[in-house]
Amino acid sequence: MGAGKSTVGPQAAERLGRPFLDLDRDLEQDLGATIPEFFEQRGEAAFRLQEEGHAIAALRLPDPAVIALGGGAVQTSSIRNELRERAFTVLLEIDVETAWQRSAGSARPLARDEAQFRTLFEQRRSLYEQVADATADDVDDVVLAAAGVRVEVGALESLGSLVPGEAPVALVSDPHVGGIYGAAAQVALGSRLASVHEVPQGEAAKTADVLERLWSELRLDRDGTVVALGGGSTTDVGGFVAATYLRGVAWVSVPTTLVGQVDAAIGGKTAIDLSQGKNLAGAFHWPARAVIDPATLTTLPEEQHLEGMAEVVKTGLLAGKPLWELPTPTLVQRCAAYKAALCLRDPADQGERAVLNLGHTFAHALEAAAGYEGVSHGRAVALGLLAALRLSGRPTDVVEHLLTPQPVRVDRERAWDALRRDKKSRGGELRLVLLGEDGPLVETRPEAEVRAALDELIAE
Ligand SMILES: NC(=O)c1ccc[n+]([C@@H]2O[C@H](COP(=O)([O-])OP(=O)(O)OC[C@H]3O[C@@H](n4cnc5c(N)ncnc54)[C@H](O)[C@@H]3O)[C@@H](O)[C@H]2O)c1
Repeated sequence: MGAGKSTVGPQAAERLGRPFLDLDRDLEQDLGATIPEFFEQRGEAAFRLQEEGHAIAALRLPDPAVIALGGGAVQTSSIRNELRERAFTVLLEIDVETAWQRSAGSARPLARDEAQFRTLFEQRRSLYEQVADATADDVDDVVLAAAGVRVEVGALESLGSLVPGEAPVALVSDPHVGGIYGAAAQVALGSRLASVHEVPQGEAAKTADVLERLWSELRLDRDGTVVALGGGSTTDVGGFVAATYLRGVAWVSVPTTLVGQVDAAIGGKTAIDLSQGKNLAGAFHWPARAVIDPATLTTLPEEQHLEGMAEVVKTGLLAGKPLWELPTPTLVQRCAAYKAALCLRDPADQGERAVLNLGHTFAHALEAAAGYEGVSHGRAVALGLLAALRLSGRPTDVVEHLLTPQPVRVDRERAWDALRRDKKSRGGELRLVLLGEDGPLVETRPEAEVRAALDELIAE
């Protein structure tokens, strides 16, 4: 009671693109009476019986929905069983003081006497904990829980309990990250750790040779789990090996870079590079869990941090909120939740997930023109955001201030060719992700305008 289900529920449903059902409200409509009236006339036992039928019917609906359950519904054992079997159940955390303040004076029949309210709160607490798959304070927490993402300072130490299941685990990391965090991860995994595998640092990990070596080294059964600890390069190849080994085993991403924590480790895209280009062989394979420990960012070199800030600024611009101003753990949590929600709404990248490409069309063109050397992805994204904001008629000060993008020295024609190839011009127009008044949108712009925006990013 008073935990905020009726507020957070619809917000979570909107973020996840699912319908929202408020069981108490629906029940009142069907009963033709308010819950206090029904309690008054027929008593609590009769109410619980009605509630049981409604809750079980809702939980058995064929299509996924976000359901706000009445506060006392968990007292009914058949509802608890149904929750365990059919639902992903999130407990909204609240302390008894706040719950009482919010509920006292309302019409709620079980919130009239403070002592009785407190006793009930304690009694129900253990039942909630029995059925909860996750706990949450706010809508971002709910979204993250639904996506299997755990963001918590110190989460690395709890890795053993955060890797779902009981089966053996194969740990993959590069020598640098393994040297800093490998021991902590191994201790946390304890007796579940079956093997440790090393991949090269950085992009060099994302090759067919590395993938083949990992396939031959792994000794997991189908129920085993690959844990990829490191930056986006490690999680991309670790996720792809999990997607393909024995036709697919579970995996857990443990990102240690800002790029990984706000982007690469979330959303299920895994890949290696081919000689023809980056990320050309891969699979959608959603990690069973992403364990994000913002404390690991303290050892990240400054330039690597800046790479991630480009994605943070992009996410803030898309969300229409200055997420970049937040302290690191909160910033990571909010950015991760934004991406997680978008990917849950469009898991196979066939629709609105495309907005994550804000600024990336220009970035890819600049990187391609530089032959993928000399211009880092983050630096290219910073420039790409500048172009996207200019074309959107929006101020560019945040990007300039936080990411200090500098024009790059690349061949203009090569960059333009790469952009047109990527975007497949139709009737002299190109489709781009831009920012409108109410958020991102995909718009067509004349080639000349796009070319001028690209040219502005290139040094004389
Ligand atoms: N799958 C996706 O959705 C997705 C999204 C974005 C990027 N990516 C991919 O991610 C890759 C880039 O990843 P990245 O930017 O995380 O870099 P990275 O994985 O290449 O790592 C960069 C360097 O940082 C070091 N490092 C990592 N964590 C560290 C830490 N905590 N302390 C000190 N050093 C640390 C690594 O050892 C490495 O040398 C690219 O291949 C890109 O394609 C994938």
